[in-house]
Amino acid sequence: MSSKTIAIAGAGRMACALGRLFQRRGYTVSAVASRSRERASTAASSISPTTAAVGYSDLPRHATHILIAVSDVAIPDVARMLAVPAMHGGIALHTSGTRGLGALQALAEAGAHCGSLHPLQTVPDLERGVLALQGAAFALDGDETALGWAHELVRAAEGRPLRIAENNRAAYHAAAVMAGNYLITLLDTAAGVFESIGIPRGQALLALAPLARTSLENAVLDGPERALTGPISRGDVDTMQAHLAVLPPDVRELYRACGVATIEVARRQGLPEEAAMALERVLRQN
Ligand SMILES: NC(=O)c1ccc[n+]([C@@H]2O[C@H](COP(=O)([O-])OP(=O)(O)OC[C@H]3O[C@@H](n4cnc5c(N)ncnc54)[C@H](OP(=O)(O)O)[C@@H]3O)[C@@H](O)[C@H]2O)c1
Repeated sequence: MSSKTIAIAGAGRMACALGRLFQRRGYTVSAVASRSRERASTAASSISPTTAAVGYSDLPRHATHILIAVSDVAIPDVARMLAVPAMHGGIALHTSGTRGLGALQALAEAGAHCGSLHPLQTVPDLERGVLALQGAAFALDGDETALGWAHELVRAAEGRPLRIAENNRAAYHAAAVMAGNYLITLLDTAAGVFESIGIPRGQALLALAPLARTSLENAVLDGPERALTGPISRGDVDTMQAHLAVLPPDVRELYRACGVATIEVARRQGLPEEAAMALERVLRQN
């Protein structure tokens, strides 16, 4: 079977979004597998009318090229179910950012080429996932053959390949958590502070959104040093003290930690060392 025919293990958000995306980009998603026939059928029909709904151990009959998009903890079990003689010479890529290639050991022992293809993107549901995955970065690892197919898939998604070796995987994923999940946390916390002064949550998020979006865009387009404005950039100790005085203790800790990290950006921007140290003293004091 060719690299253009894909079978997908998993029937969740990532499985469906990748399936729909690659089906649209000229691949045939021949089958989708889940523990439940019903969930597999729902996932298959969300990808294409010809995608079959099967159990995990049947998947290798439908393609030699398999994407494993199941929960991280389930990858070794699923790999064992897929490790049948038909996979000898085939390719399996998992989509986890945290699990290494050891999770696919059973498939490697069965003679399959193993790798990983982690979309550096958030996929909250099928529709938004398909849009978000196009042009995303993808972290790749694996043997030469697996990497070859992974690169082909990234090109099909018009994505950006990032080769991440096993020993760098944890650092890579920690950075991804900060850039994705922690942005949400910061926005959520800021909205909570607005709520505490009487601005309803919905309005708070809408009011903060343009500021958050513009800051992010500027940081990406111009670099963090040029994008940074505000009291830390100006070395404004009085304003930092005023902020710390009104924030509740848990928010204050987050504010302090982000503030100390922001001083480093301000230093690179040219903030005089004396001003940077004065800010640091205020932010680090109990
Ligand atoms: N969603 C994201 O934003 C995102 C981003 C990057 C990478 N990923 C990666 O993509 C993979 C899938 O994530 P997801 O968000 O699509 O998860 P999900 O929506 O929760 O779907 C998880 C899938 O895993 C299967 N599964 C769970 N436990 C299982 C088990 N014990 N044995 C066999 N199958 C099991 C489920 O199959 P059943 O139908 O059989 O229950 C389900 O289809 C993960 O490796 C995740 O780290 C996700």
